[in-house]
Amino acid sequence: MCGIVGYVGMRSAQDVVIEGLRRLEYRGYDSAGIALVDHGTIASDKKSGKLANLEKAIEESPLPASTIGIGHTRWATHGAPTDRNAHPHLGREQRLALVHNGIIENFAEIRAELEAESHELLSETDTEVAAHLIERELDKGVDLTVAMQAACRQMEGAFTLVAVDSQDPDRVVAARRNSPLVVGLGEGENFLGSDVAAFIEHTREALELGQDQVVTITRDGVAVSTFDGEPAEGTRYHVDWDLSAAEKDGHDWFMRKEIFEQPRAVADSLLGRRDASGRLQLDEVRLSDEDLREIDKVIVIACGTSFYAGMVAKYAIEHWCRVPVEVELASEFRYRDPILTQRTLVVAISQSGETADTLQAIRHARSQGSKVLAICNTNGSTIPRESDAVIYTHAGPEIGVASTKGFLTQLVACYLLGLYFAQVKGTRFGDEINQIMDQLEEMPAHIDTVLSHADEVYAMAKEYLGTPSVLFLGRHAGYPVALEGALKLKELAYIHAEGFAAGELKHGPIALVDNGLPIWCIVPPRGRDQLHEKMVSGIQEVRARGARTICLAEEGDTAIEPYADVLIRLPKVPVLLQPLVATVPLQLFACELATLMGHDVDMPRNLAKSVTVE
Ligand code: AGP
Repeated sequence: MCGIVGYVGMRSAQDVVIEGLRRLEYRGYDSAGIALVDHGTIASDKKSGKLANLEKAIEESPLPASTIGIGHTRWATHGAPTDRNAHPHLGREQRLALVHNGIIENFAEIRAELEAESHELLSETDTEVAAHLIERELDKGVDLTVAMQAACRQMEGAFTLVAVDSQDPDRVVAARRNSPLVVGLGEGENFLGSDVAAFIEHTREALELGQDQVVTITRDGVAVSTFDGEPAEGTRYHVDWDLSAAEKDGHDWFMRKEIFEQPRAVADSLLGRRDASGRLQLDEVRLSDEDLREIDKVIVIACGTSFYAGMVAKYAIEHWCRVPVEVELASEFRYRDPILTQRTLVVAISQSGETADTLQAIRHARSQGSKVLAICNTNGSTIPRESDAVIYTHAGPEIGVASTKGFLTQLVACYLLGLYFAQVKGTRFGDEINQIMDQLEEMPAHIDTVLSHADEVYAMAKEYLGTPSVLFLGRHAGYPVALEGALKLKELAYIHAEGFAAGELKHGPIALVDNGLPIWCIVPPRGRDQLHEKMVSGIQEVRARGARTICLAEEGDTAIEPYADVLIRLPKVPVLLQPLVATVPLQLFACELATLMGHDVDMPRNLAKSVTVE
């Protein structure tokens, strides 16, 4: 989730681009870069780290004055956050400069094709491949718009691309597929940005682009086309947000924005995971198939929300791979002298990649000869660096302290690991794996459906304002969801909240149930295994003792209706994947209740986003 800026007009492009990047830095700050068109050449600079590093470099070695340019602030996906991997990337003849957000799924094939034509690629990024590809089209004698259209027809995945051509000082050309891009409409100048925050101080008139469109901005105009070169139109609108709302995409909190970003984040985390023949490919898993086949035990270690993702991983991996999985709190792990061998795979889950408890646990595991695979959202952070392999979750930066899209994308990574492991071990047939992958690819649409009912959840939060305690019940993969729902509420609303495995209720916790106590019940989908029926009995038991039941149940589940005081419908999905939809109303509830209570949702008291002390 990088930040992108483009400008053509009469002002200093450097000033406009740098200011735009500052507004977009919340989208990523692994590196920053700028390219300007200067009398037939590209002048560019880029630096790893925050924008301030780039600004310092430009101060020491100024760029020429120019009124056309592009810029980028990076959230690393392909390649470590280094100077070399920073954007912009140039084409082979350095005629074209390109910035990019997203993932080009078939970049390895394009790279091989270009290398066969003696293109020398200097970085590990998919972006540089695209830069060479577009410049190769330019070499055919077409203009940048046509070159961009032709290159886009060859690329798969999700991308926003913004380019300038040193031979054409009048146009900036951009393209988008499944990745954000807006045009800012000025007088004698026009702008491009990942979101309106990039240009809101210059203009509030914007044009939203459709899917698979190319846009060409000049000083005097904006032209939109399809990837096939047919004329097209964007949707014009007026922006009435202030700057801080613009950064949050109109939401009051980063957390709420991140909740609503989840369909996109889940889709991104699934991108590029299957090859042309449909087999799963996890490039970042640097463990050989032989190594993986030798594994006889998996131990998942993590903290907080990431720990709950690990609990779901246990259900999935054991079911699909028939390998025993233990799930451990990272902070407890090394103190109990765990049994670790070379055949143990330790999976460390961490959004930030910097959690000290998790880091110490993986160091201990490696010192005992076990292999460590990290599931992480932050490219280049310590935990993936110190692991043998990594699956990045591609959620983009998570700014709200309470994890939301981080969690959902961790779940996706856990499913991918389980399916990949099953493929290597041969415990599932290829068509079964493909069927589950198809179901996973439907999840962004299902999450969208759940989000479209946010108002019902908000109304309920209003109703429960003032409640001193809330319980959450779940079974199977719904149990970690119950724990996550309770954690969100504790973190944000500072009230007593507890999650239970529903079957455990009668062994003690049911004594807590009293008149009016709100209990969220995550009802498993109906199936062959009696899970659903047992959950319904548990719900009857608490209701008989005065609890108010808020039930999350799949569409068409009529058996739950008599026992639900409030019924929130979930799309029909398999039980193992249900956490991807069932967690969302709980996040919305906690966010809304905390907002109504007047709490700072993005920075709850006593908490830090990344816990770097043990
Ligand atoms: C989640 O809402 C929390 N803020 C917290 O539990 C978090 O998940 C935990 O500290 C682990 O962080 P990590 O994923 O960055 O390692």
